[in-house]
Amino acid sequence: MTGRIPEDTIREIRERSDIVEVVSSYLPLKRSGANHQGLCPFHGEKTPSFNVNATRQIFHCFGCGVGGNVFSFLMRMEGLTFPEAVRRLGERVGISIEEETLSPAEQQRREDHERLTRVNEVACDFYHQVLLDDKEGAAGRRYLRERGYDGETARIFRLGFAPGRWEALAEHLAQKGFDPRWARELGLIRPGKDGRGDYDLFRNRLLFPILDLHDKVVAFGGRVLDDSLPKYINSSESPIYHKGRILYGLARAREEMRRSDEVIVVEGYFDQLALHRAGFANAVATCGTALTDEHGRLLQRYAKKVLLLFDQDNAGRKATFRAMEVLLPLGLSVAVVGLDAGEDPDSFLRKAGTEAFIGRLREAQPVIEVYMDAVLTAHGDGIEGRARAAEEIMARLRLVPSEIERSLYLQSLARRTGLDPGLLQQRIARSVPVPAVQSPRSAPQPPVPQRRSAPVMSKEVKAQELLLRLMLEDDGIRAEVAVEGVASLFFDPDRQAIADQLLDRARDGEKFAESELFDRLNEEQKAIFSGILVKDEKAFAEERQRIVQDCRQTVLKETLKRRVRDLDEQIRRAEQSGDLQQLAACQIERLNVCRELKK
Ligand code: CTP
Ligand code: MN
Repeated sequence: MTGRIPEDTIREIRERSDIVEVVSSYLPLKRSGANHQGLCPFHGEKTPSFNVNATRQIFHCFGCGVGGNVFSFLMRMEGLTFPEAVRRLGERVGISIEEETLSPAEQQRREDHERLTRVNEVACDFYHQVLLDDKEGAAGRRYLRERGYDGETARIFRLGFAPGRWEALAEHLAQKGFDPRWARELGLIRPGKDGRGDYDLFRNRLLFPILDLHDKVVAFGGRVLDDSLPKYINSSESPIYHKGRILYGLARAREEMRRSDEVIVVEGYFDQLALHRAGFANAVATCGTALTDEHGRLLQRYAKKVLLLFDQDNAGRKATFRAMEVLLPLGLSVAVVGLDAGEDPDSFLRKAGTEAFIGRLREAQPVIEVYMDAVLTAHGDGIEGRARAAEEIMARLRLVPSEIERSLYLQSLARRTGLDPGLLQQRIARSVPVPAVQSPRSAPQPPVPQRRSAPVMSKEVKAQELLLRLMLEDDGIRAEVAVEGVASLFFDPDRQAIADQLLDRARDGEKFAESELFDRLNEEQKAIFSGILVKDEKAFAEERQRIVQDCRQTVLKETLKRRVRDLDEQIRRAEQSGDLQQLAACQIERLNVCRELKK
């Protein structure tokens, strides 16, 4: 939606903004030493661990670990992309971003989008008015009432009703002077055969407008009023509607999602309606499509915990496990809410009521547990079955980014299969993928860092962080690191990335603000870097060489440890295949490496 914003403009906006002032417009801050403190808006807490540092123009929460500069704060707070955050701040400090930065193609695209959205809005108003008080809407009103919804719901959700005529909308749009090509592109009308006029897609259906995050109508879903098929039809995909990127009800739900840090994901329009009416404002619907990565990242903007509440049938279970594969790698905590067979949230709430529903929410089970049950049951009790089930489950466990959680699940798996926990642990340790370093500028949204409480910092990590500090303060150290190479001083990929960015930024020799670096870091890295800056620890001059030396040692040690793990794997394979020569060679090398490690 935006053209590239020139670096100079970004810098100017950053320099003119004050993070303390921006944060203060969201939450009260109190001065405390070098920092301002308040209750963290990103996780629930009673004592303030959210720090804002005016000198460095950064924030950091010691409770949940998030941190960054003023842009990062707005991105997280408002669920914005980087360019959106820059624009928003630009408006605040009175720097307008040149629209000329848009290419003609981009300009055209935007105009098309605006026109398409306008047509949808007009269609939405038309259908809505029919449902509220047109005689053609009587059947729709009756249907809604029979399902227990009143005019209030219809208004809140801007529900509509499409009359049974073939050309109701086509005519309405023509009257308003709209070129039919836009409504055709949206799939709302289609050209008739044999020279007849356009005809409507939605006829005799109750309509659910699908809104984007700016509350603009991007599509509709329409339900028949009886048992005929298809039960639902939906607007076709269009330049403004990609079903893999839209969650029904998200704009309305996000406030409560952020507050509770939880989201309830359901399948259907009516389920969302039902939950909302029962007071669960943090519900969104997938509208029958499989949950995509993009859906996952949207959810992640606003909540840390996802409650999956899909239909209690085979298709629903499949959708649940598919969602698990999308959501776990994002570091979200995922649980499954169980209802009785054949029920969905709408029908359950109607039958059993809100209290019973709250009970079900409370009994939600971690998705991995549910998955383990399903796979273990499917493969049976035999040795082979258990082994195969364990492999399948481990493949999913690898998606869990938190080491602690992974290990807890492994223990549970070991208990249930009777396999040796050590063996499972070993097998999984070898293949856990290192998360890729992502470019935050192209990433649609900041993922929440995995960490929720301050970890105990090892002496190795501490040395790396001190070295990063030194690099900020001291050109000499920076030069030293550049010569030696970050890879030989930082073993941890996130801290390595920060060091890389630091060197990169400092290369031109001009002065730069620390807060600038955040725009180039991913969320985990932002959290680490803000943590370093906000603590403001000083390293003493005489410690410098020792710190560098500590870092160097750590990398060496980690490299050797990795080598030992490789060798263990090779030894295991040599044992299996009976390759004695290879076995001996590996064992000798392992001995040597271990001896080296001891030194
Ligand atoms: N859906 C669809 N096309 C269909 C069937 C379903 O797009 N032919 C989507 C709709 O978004 C629907 C969701 O999948 O809301 C779930 O479908 P289903 O469970 O069949 O419908 P419900 O939402 O339960 O609707 P109702 O309660 O009216 O039966
Ligand atoms: Mn239903």
